[in-house]
Amino acid sequence: MTNNNPIGVFDSGIGGTSIWSAIHELLPNEKTIYLADSKNAPYGQRTKEEIVALSKKNVDFLLEMNCKLIVVACNTATTNAILELRGDYDIPFIGIEPAIKPAANNSKTQVIGILATKGTLNSELFNKTAEMFQNTTIIEQVGHGLVQLIEDGNLNSPEMTQLLESYLQPMIDANIDYLVLGCSHYPYLIPQIKKILPEHIQIIDSGEAVARQTQNVLREKVGFTDIQNTDPIFYVNSNPEVLKSILDYKYTVIEKDF
Ligand code: DGL
Repeated sequence: MTNNNPIGVFDSGIGGTSIWSAIHELLPNEKTIYLADSKNAPYGQRTKEEIVALSKKNVDFLLEMNCKLIVVACNTATTNAILELRGDYDIPFIGIEPAIKPAANNSKTQVIGILATKGTLNSELFNKTAEMFQNTTIIEQVGHGLVQLIEDGNLNSPEMTQLLESYLQPMIDANIDYLVLGCSHYPYLIPQIKKILPEHIQIIDSGEAVARQTQNVLREKVGFTDIQNTDPIFYVNSNPEVLKSILDYKYTVIEKDF
C-alpha cells in the first residue's frame, strides 16, 4: 500500500516540533506539514470547547493540504479534543498523552511527577489514565508560564529557571524517581531541568512512542510514501522567528494566518 500524501502535525505553537523531530527521524522519507497555532497559544488555560474549536480549525487547514494522517502533537489538544476529532473526521489521528504508564511501571519509589498544562491535568482522559495507577503517587504540577516563555523565545531566561525550580523542588522533596513531561513544549527544557533534578531522576517524554505509533498506522492503514526525501514545511500564524530559531534555520517556515 502506497500513499504519497503528507503527514500533518499540529500543536498550539512551536513545542510540537519536538514530536515532529522524532517522526522525521524515524520516517525521513515521509513528507510532513507542521502547523504552529502560536497566535492562539497557550491552549492550556482555555476551556475544552475552545480547545476543540481550535483543533478543528487546525485539522481543516491540514486537510486542505491533503494530509493522509494527522498527529495531534499537543497533550492539551489530545486530552481535550481527540475523541471529537475522531468522531468528526474520517482520517486517522494520533495523539500524545503524558507517559504515566512507563513511569509508574518502572518507578522504584512509587512516586512520580508530572509537569503538564492545566488543560491536560484537568481533562477526563488524563484522569482516567491516572486512576489506573492506584499504587503510584502521582505528583501533578501545572507548568504555569512555561509555554508562554518558550513561545516568546525566552527559553534560557532567569525567569524560566526560577519557575522550573519552584515546580520541581516539591517533587524532589516527595522522592519522585520519574518526571513525566506532559506537554510537547517541555522537551526543550530538558537541559535546564537536568541542572535542577538529582541525577537518579529519569525524565520521560512521549516523542518516540508517537513516532512509532505513526509508523504502525502508516503500515497497517494508510500506506508509506514511495517518494524520497521531501522537505518538510512549517506554517505559523505569529512570531515566525522563534519557530525558525528552534528549527536551527534548517527548514522552510511560512507565516500565514489560519
Ligand atoms: N504543547 C502543548 C501540550 O503539549 C500545549 C501547550 C499550551 O498551549 O498550553 O500540551
